[in-house]
Amino acid sequence: MSSHDDILEPDDPAGGGAPVAGEPVEPALRAASQVDPRLLAATRRQGCFVTFEGIEGSGKTTQIARLAECLDEAGEPVLVTREPGGSPLGRRLRSLLLGGEIARIDPMAELLLYVADRAQHLRDLVEPTLATGTHVLCDRFLDATLAYQGFARGLDLTLIRTLHTTPPLDRRPHRTILLDLDPELGLERARRRNGELGLDATEGRFEREALAFHRRVRDGYLALADAEPFRFRIVAAEGSPDDVAARIADLLSDLFPGLDGEDGS
Ligand code: TMP
Repeated sequence: MSSHDDILEPDDPAGGGAPVAGEPVEPALRAASQVDPRLLAATRRQGCFVTFEGIEGSGKTTQIARLAECLDEAGEPVLVTREPGGSPLGRRLRSLLLGGEIARIDPMAELLLYVADRAQHLRDLVEPTLATGTHVLCDRFLDATLAYQGFARGLDLTLIRTLHTTPPLDRRPHRTILLDLDPELGLERARRRNGELGLDATEGRFEREALAFHRRVRDGYLALADAEPFRFRIVAAEGSPDDVAARIADLLSDLFPGLDGEDGS
């Protein structure tokens, strides 16, 4: 458990304490806390960085869109993005990683491509957006790398964590929603969705993986959540999208008070 994973409340006064170790500190913010309280007041509100994780078919994308809509209605500025694919470079990497054009990607090469996508995404989009006070909802982040490349493919977790101690990769989410689902159900949903999109049912590198692979991913996610209960919230992904959305709104109402009562009935 490391201090840089502590939750930063959105209205945490920036001048109220030392920067949290490992959290990138906006240079403007650092300077402001020493000089001009008015500038400090104007720059102290960073957006919240909330990530969504889960196995294939867990419904992340639907739930992120619904949450973004609720936040928007509550007057909270919000940006939705995803990994891989949240930057122009990332979109190219996504199609290389998931498009099936390259039949076999070495696990270490795969890891480094996901990490390259993340570095560019953080630098180009996530950090500048948070710095303006806009919240960022991100479909997958570092925990996906730990779960898929680490727990499921068997690459060294320490290596993956070490890569993420250097800027811009040292950003940590304020909150992570883990949509938990039985992998058998998740794969069935993902394959049905592919069918509806007119794709081959096993389109995508990961839909083709055996059930045992997806079980390792799920167990990896649960182990990560167990290790950082202050950051993770586990949400049962079964049930109607309305039910799941209400559970998520409830678990985020401390970060976003405007969500109180939204979807809650
Ligand atoms: P999705 O976000 O559309 O579900 O697809 C992204 C796929 O990429 C998914 O199968 C999980 C996988 N992935 C990794 O293996 N490692 C990572 O670091 C990330 C972000 C995604």
